[in-house]
Amino acid sequence: MKAVLVTGSSGDIGSSICQALAAEGWSIYLHYHSNQQRITDMMQEFQERYPNQEFIPIKADLVEENAVEMLTSQLFSLNAVVFAHGTTEYGLLDALTPERMDYLWKMHVKTPILITQATQSKIHKSNQGRIVFISSVYGEMGSSNEVFYSTVKGAQLAFVKAYSKEVASWGITVNAVSPGAIKTHMNTHFSLNDLEELESDIPVGRLGEPSEISFWVKQLLKPDSAYMTGQTLTVSGGWLK
Ligand SMILES: NC(=O)c1ccc[n+]([C@@H]2O[C@H](COP(=O)([O-])OP(=O)(O)OC[C@H]3O[C@@H](n4cnc5c(N)ncnc54)[C@H](OP(=O)(O)O)[C@@H]3O)[C@@H](O)[C@H]2O)c1
Repeated sequence: MKAVLVTGSSGDIGSSICQALAAEGWSIYLHYHSNQQRITDMMQEFQERYPNQEFIPIKADLVEENAVEMLTSQLFSLNAVVFAHGTTEYGLLDALTPERMDYLWKMHVKTPILITQATQSKIHKSNQGRIVFISSVYGEMGSSNEVFYSTVKGAQLAFVKAYSKEVASWGITVNAVSPGAIKTHMNTHFSLNDLEELESDIPVGRLGEPSEISFWVKQLLKPDSAYMTGQTLTVSGGWLK
C-alpha cells in the first residue's frame, strides 16, 4: 500500500492535498499542529469513503527540538512526503528579531530537511519515492514586508534543486509547487480593498483555490512523473512571473 506523510494536513492547502491523495488510493499520515478537529473530521470522512486505506494522525510542533524524532518514530512504510505546513511573518526587516528568524528557519527549512534525512531510507526502499515542498512564489521573486519568509521559501527551492540530484538514481523525485495567492486561512487578514488590489495584479484576475495546488501535487506523486525532478511548478495565475 502506498503511504504519504502530509505535513500541515490541517491547513487549507494541506487538507486539499489529503483529499486529492486519498481519492487516488494513498494511505496518509496526517500531520497537524493545533487543529485536531479538522483532522478528526477528515479521518472520519476518509475511513468511511476509503475503508481499505490507512489514515494516521500525528501531532507535532515542527519548530520544537524533539519534533523530528517524535514525528518520524510514528512512520512505518513511506513512499512520499509532502511538506505543506507553515506560516509567514509580516513586517519590515529591521523589526525582525533573531528569535522569529530562527522560528521561520526551523519551520520551513531545518525541520523539513531533518525529516527528509530521517525518512530517506524508508523512501528509498519504496523504489519510487516522491518529495514535494509547498514553497511560494515569494521564494522565487521576493516580497518586501515578508523578506525573511521569502528567504526561507527560496531556501526550500535551492534544497529541492540540490537534493534531487543526490537521490535521482534511486528513483526518488524532489520537486516544489510554488503557489501565488491562494484562498486560505493564511490570507484572511486582507481587507476587501486589499483583495481587490491584489486580484487586479493577478493576470488570471482572482486568488487561487487550494484544489488548484493539490491538483499538481497529485500529478507529481504519480509513477508517470518519474522523469520530473529538481523543478519548481509555479501556480500563481501568472502573478509575479
Ligand atoms: N495561502 C497562500 O496564499 C500561500 C501562498 C504561497 C505559499 N503558501 C504556503 O502553503 C503552505 C500552507 O499554507 P496554507 O495557506 O494552507 O495555510 P493554513 O491554512 O494557515 O495552514 C497552515 C498549516 O501549517 C501548520 N502549522 C502552523 N504552525 C505550525 C507549527 N509550529 N508546527 C507544525 N505545523 C504548523 C498548521 O497546523 P494547525 O492548523 O494544526 O495549527 C496548518 O496545518 C505554507 O507553507 C505556506 O507558506 C501559501
